[in-house]
Parts: sequence; structure tokens; C-alpha cells
Amino acid sequence: MEMQFRSVPKEVYDVMDLNEKFNYLWNPDSTSSLIGLGSSYVLEFFEFYGERIGDYYDEFIQDPVLKDERFPVFVDQEKRHAAAHRKLNNFITKGIASPAREKYHPRVYDFMYGAYKQFAEPVIAGIEKDKAAGKKYEGEHFKEAVRSVAIFESEVCMTGFAFFDNLFDNGRFEAVLNMSSNLGVLYLLAYHYAEEMEHCCVSIEAFETIYEEQLWTKKLIDKHINNSDLLSQQVILSTLHVARMLGQDISIQQITESLAFQYRIQAGKKYITEGFNAREPEILARREYLVNRWDNEWEPKLLEKIKSKINAGSH
Ligand SMILES: [Fe+2]
Ligand SMILES: [Fe+2]
Repeated sequence: MEMQFRSVPKEVYDVMDLNEKFNYLWNPDSTSSLIGLGSSYVLEFFEFYGERIGDYYDEFIQDPVLKDERFPVFVDQEKRHAAAHRKLNNFITKGIASPAREKYHPRVYDFMYGAYKQFAEPVIAGIEKDKAAGKKYEGEHFKEAVRSVAIFESEVCMTGFAFFDNLFDNGRFEAVLNMSSNLGVLYLLAYHYAEEMEHCCVSIEAFETIYEEQLWTKKLIDKHINNSDLLSQQVILSTLHVARMLGQDISIQQITESLAFQYRIQAGKKYITEGFNAREPEILARREYLVNRWDNEWEPKLLEKIKSKINAGSH
């Protein structure tokens, strides 16, 4: 699958209405709407983390046999995603919470500070320590970092499946378009998940090439898929914060029982089995099918509807 750099048209932000009448109900289901917005912060946070790990990847891996030339392309897609989410994220937190620059991360919101301390800081500080001791990709912290990126990417890929299955495929697209009260947010997430499905095998294969071992072992599946995965816990926390910022009261149970959440867990359990690398024929075919339909059918229709809403002044 060839990776592409898609750009988010200006109209997407115009219709999002970040000035006056922002309607958070981009999804017909209100809890799933809040989860999508919570995810917007988690994705931005991890994309900056991935960018930093991408810099170490460039620096540490010189051997052309080990170096995957797709890795920097994947990281560039992630940089663009973070930039695309930023306007929406800044808008929701405006006047309530602003992100701070931390030693190893340029934009950490207060409600992501725990994730920073628990997850990003020890890994990056460890890489720096290993580097000072002359270690490169063989250092344990860099290995842990590449593993964490690959786990995250696998989980985001499952979110992509869940997103498109639930909202676009199976004849649902037209109905969802009519029921969505914010086509800009719907577009932003769909564009993002399409690119996630496009690149989700890259970091898994990069890990397996460097370390000559499987990423998704039985042990890792037990830890992340059968229990609460890396992504879920952060998504729950940031969804709670986003809900509060938008004046909505929501319980953890509502989040975990929601359609969006359940679809994603099911996709993970179904597809992430031992040795998963996102290139199994069934999974690759599914990824290609969804990305192609987004590019050739859903994206043009959604953009057309956004433009007509803007022209009619009814957004
Ligand atoms: Fe991304
Ligand atoms: Fe990604």
C-alpha cells in the first residue's frame, strides 16, 4: 500500500465552526462523539511521541538492511495528523487548559500529564541515557520505544476498522452523513483513520526487522488485547476531560459500553492474534478496500456535502 500525503481542505475547518456554534455531536451516538474528541487529544499526544522516536530511528539505524525507508514517510504522515487535530484541540480547551512544553514533548495538556510521566518521559529519558553510554538501536529503551509505537499503531488500526465499519461501510454512510451535526469532525477523523490503516504495518515490520522477533506474542496479546490496552485507558481519561470541558456529564461505564468503544475492542480481539503484522491477506484486503473507498467515494461525497452546507450558510 503506497502511503500518500492527503491534505485536509480548508472547508473542513470552516464547517467545524470553531468560532461560534460548535456542535460536538459529529457522530449519531453522543457518547461516541465524545470519545472521538477525547481520541483527538490522545492521537495528538502519541503522534508527537512517534515523531521523537522517528528521529532516534533515523539516527540509530544506518544499516540499509535494517532501515525501513517507509518509516520516515509514516512519521511524516503522523506529523500532519497532529497538525490537523491541533485546531480542534486548541478550540475545545480554549480558555480552560493550554498545553505545556515538557522536556521530551512539545504539547502536553494537563490531563495528558500522567501519560507523559508514566509513559513518554521514562522511555525517552532511558533512550538518552543509553545513547550517552554509546548504545544505539540495541539499547533496551529504544527497543521498548519502537515496540510501543508498533503496539499503538496496531491499536489505532483497529480503531480505524471500527470507525469505518460502524459509520461508513455496510450502507451506513448516507445515514450517518444526514445524522451528523458536525461534518468537519467526521471528515477529520475519517481522513486520519484512512491514513492510519494505510501505514499501520510499517512500525510493526520495522520492529520485527530490527530485532528479528515477533511483536505480537501471546504474552503481549494477554497484556494489551485481553486486558485494558494502552490506548483505551488514555482514551477513557481524555474523553472524561473533554466531556467536562464541553459541559457534558458522562460515566466511565457509558464510555466502555459505547458503540465506538465496543467495536474497537471486538476488532482487536478478532484480528490481533499471535504474529499479527497487519499484512495478513484478509487484513490487507480490508485496509485496501476501506482506504480506496474513502479516497474514491466517501471523501468526495463528504467534501461535497460540506461545501454545499457552507454555501447554504446552514452549518
Ligand atoms: Fe496518526
Ligand atoms: Fe499512525
